[in-house]
Amino acid sequence: MDKIRITGGNKLQGEVEISGSKNASLPLMAAPLLTEAPCRLQRIPHLADITTMAHMLEFIGADVERGEDGVLAIHAQNLQVTEAPYDLMRKMRASIYVMGPLLARFGQAKVSLPGGCAIGTRPVDLHLRGFEALGARIELSHGYIQAIAPAGGLRGAECVLSGPSGPSVGATCNVLMAAVLAKGHSTLRDIAREPHVEDLIHCLNGMGAQIESNGCDVLEVDGVDALHGVEHRVIPDQIEAATFMLAAALTRGNVVLRDCRPSHMRSEIAKLHEMGAQAEVLENGYDLRVWRDEPFRPAAVRTAPYPGFPTDVQAQFMVAMSLAQGESVVVETIFPDRFMHAAELNRMGADIRVLNGTATIHGVERLSGAAVMCSDLRASAALVLAGLVAQGETECLRVYHIDRGYERIEAKLRALGADIERLASAGSGETPPADTPAS
Ligand code: UD1
Repeated sequence: MDKIRITGGNKLQGEVEISGSKNASLPLMAAPLLTEAPCRLQRIPHLADITTMAHMLEFIGADVERGEDGVLAIHAQNLQVTEAPYDLMRKMRASIYVMGPLLARFGQAKVSLPGGCAIGTRPVDLHLRGFEALGARIELSHGYIQAIAPAGGLRGAECVLSGPSGPSVGATCNVLMAAVLAKGHSTLRDIAREPHVEDLIHCLNGMGAQIESNGCDVLEVDGVDALHGVEHRVIPDQIEAATFMLAAALTRGNVVLRDCRPSHMRSEIAKLHEMGAQAEVLENGYDLRVWRDEPFRPAAVRTAPYPGFPTDVQAQFMVAMSLAQGESVVVETIFPDRFMHAAELNRMGADIRVLNGTATIHGVERLSGAAVMCSDLRASAALVLAGLVAQGETECLRVYHIDRGYERIEAKLRALGADIERLASAGSGETPPADTPAS
């Protein structure tokens, strides 16, 4: 399996193009299952999770073709099966996105129940409750969930998409895709408001769906009989952008993030300012210049659903907190076990203590390079960031986690001046274990 070797200490300078959003691309790739017509998605990143989703669509019987410049053509005219098997589901939880469209268009869907993952238990009860509200009967047996629509198809209804830890992104996207073809009117309440939910709404309306948002947490959906094809450009990846923002700030560099939609990153940019780095939106409104002249100040972070501080960037911010002058705190409210990076950062000299979903970080003078183990996608990104500022050499093992969500990360960092390379170690053709999906 590949590893990434980094020699820390180089300031990053220059420009980096932000890729299309992974988390937006995954539900968008499931949306074409709602129609017989061909669809074209632009700016789909080259990532392992995208390949897994493409394999899932092909397994179901859709034609999937990758073109130039991130174009993905998906045509779900002749579908043979309405079942998502364990082998594909266990690679990526987001495979569950096929469930809503299959149920809505064919009246049934069967998917393997996703298991736990590296960032803790991740239930799908809100997805299933939403389908039930739309009239589906849900059966769980032999590790599979089967959903069957009533005779005549799904019926519009009121669905609540929030649980004890807040709204669910996955359930919002999945139930929305089911509701657009349901008969009659649906009201979706307490929805997730992440930019990729908005992007999915935009794409579905482009396919002929009738979705209206109150601009807050309610969607009104008038079911339609059929949808048509669409050409849709995916939004930029705000998590990748936030990761590069930290790379620039950590190394006291000066980097322009091209086409990153800063309006989607308000809480991350505000936290960066609070910690003593600078981020300036350039004239076109889409580019962001990031630099740092002062020492990092400590900060307190509480993860929350959008527009709050994203759980997907707390690991990366923790690297900056490790080097801040004082004590910082991270409270993880979405996935309380999501601290696998803390122990690895401590191996690099950080001083982080984790207790009951809260990490307390005492800033240290410096980090030192070490061999570290990537445990999940965003934890891996944090270790790469730490390697960029650590003294000496860092080797990140199990980098297949990072390939799930970062397009050419070492090439992009090298172009900014980082001393980083990917090493294919013996057995690199081996298939990585795919049972710890965390995004
Ligand atoms: C998505 C993102 C992931 C991000 C997460 C939270 C994708 C592909 N992944 O994951 O990167 O970290 O949002 O922003 O977009 N929950 C339930 N019942 C459910 C579903 C979720 O209780 O049926 C809980 C979860 O355990 C968690 C919270 O709701 O505590 C939010 O999860 P959710 O928004 O569904 O996360 P994902 O869509 O899996």
